[in-house]
Amino acid sequence: MNEEFHYKGGELYCENVPVTRVAERIGTPVYIYSQNHFIKQANAIREAFKEVEPLVCYSVKANSNLGLLRAMALAGAGFDAVSKGEVYRALRAGAEPGKVVFAGVGKQADEVDYALSQGILMFNVESESELDMISKVAGKRKVEAPIALRLNPDVDPKTHKYIATGKRENKFGIDLERAEKCLTRIKELKNLRLRGLHIHIGSQITQADRHAEAIDKVTPFIEKVKKGDFPLEFLNVGGGFGISYQPGEGLAIGEFAKIMVPKIKALGLKMLSEPGRFISGNGGILLNRVIFDKPSGDKNFLIVDGAMNDLLRPSIYQAYHLSWPVKQAGLPDGAALGDKSPLTDAAAGKDPVTYDVVGPICESGDYFALGRKLPRMKEGDLLAVFSAGAYGFSMSSNYNTRGRPAEVIVNGNEFWVARDRETLEDQVRGERLTPRETFKA
Ligand code: LLP
Repeated sequence: MNEEFHYKGGELYCENVPVTRVAERIGTPVYIYSQNHFIKQANAIREAFKEVEPLVCYSVKANSNLGLLRAMALAGAGFDAVSKGEVYRALRAGAEPGKVVFAGVGKQADEVDYALSQGILMFNVESESELDMISKVAGKRKVEAPIALRLNPDVDPKTHKYIATGKRENKFGIDLERAEKCLTRIKELKNLRLRGLHIHIGSQITQADRHAEAIDKVTPFIEKVKKGDFPLEFLNVGGGFGISYQPGEGLAIGEFAKIMVPKIKALGLKMLSEPGRFISGNGGILLNRVIFDKPSGDKNFLIVDGAMNDLLRPSIYQAYHLSWPVKQAGLPDGAALGDKSPLTDAAAGKDPVTYDVVGPICESGDYFALGRKLPRMKEGDLLAVFSAGAYGFSMSSNYNTRGRPAEVIVNGNEFWVARDRETLEDQVRGERLTPRETFKA
């Protein structure tokens, strides 16, 4: 459900703030986040999985805005990081180091050293070579590095192929045969302590049995590890809980818990999870203004000021994002993106138009929505692209030398700018017109 973004009196609100107000004060395009949504979603996981003492480590990559990370840290969340930069961001936002986990197939020694120096909870190790490297770095510091082995359970998560990570052919995790060898290696190496096992099979998973199958596949291995005198405490089930991008999609968190909790409980381990999209996805919109309404050939292009550099998901995953006018007379109060959402073709009114909603970038792949029936819109109107809180701003770029949008956090009746809109100067920072220093070949 997504009631933090809802219509009242025929216009879109985020919590108690009409989003038009944000556009007037801050301009467009602008990301608008509901802080309450982030906190509520984290609490929903804690509640659903309470029997297995869950530690929710919010996946920083989904939305790494410092203001949001701070709100999450204050609400007791841990963090899942995949780079030194993400560890830094989490700590900068006030994370407890002992609640930060560090994953990734290509960690480098300086990143490991930094994370060790900060006292993070553990590294999710993805290869045999990485075991050697982490042990060496820990040895230099004369400490034991806490680790989990990321297992590749060879499970099809039934999602977009770019975001499937737990199949044998994917680069992630360690297959179960090699994982056995890793146990021997961990014993040989002096500076490692195996505290957990980790699986993350993919993202936007909407079938609970996918997670269940992953746990089942690794269970015999976990039983073996437990017999092998390792101080195992955690099963990290990764992220992946899917959300509704359109009515009927997604699955209540309780449905995942129902099938996963008994399995985790039987293993006698605490659950750690790394949700990204579930926390942030429906906690944000990208608000755009219509620049032109351009009929061309047989089509109607609605050209808005946001573009693929701001929100890449439709262009690279052909992802569906609800796009809807901010003002529509007659919409029932409470209308929102949810199971009974009226924001569908049928609500497009008496004079609907089939639009391609596109941005100003010089690529035909620059779009938010194709062939969508919407109420007729005109130049200057505001259009919201929903479900943009996850992998939106965090995947944005300056392509076409476009400044990245501002990010605004709404909390109840108030809103504040958590990241300034980038200026022209921001976009050329670090570049030079002439050499500061030249190097001989
Ligand atoms: N843990 C690990 C190790 C991950 O690689 C990821 C996401 C997560 C947790 C969080 O997954 P989530 O709960 O958000 O599904 N850019 C893509 C998604 C890439 C996901 C990468 N890994 C998209 O926009 O759909």
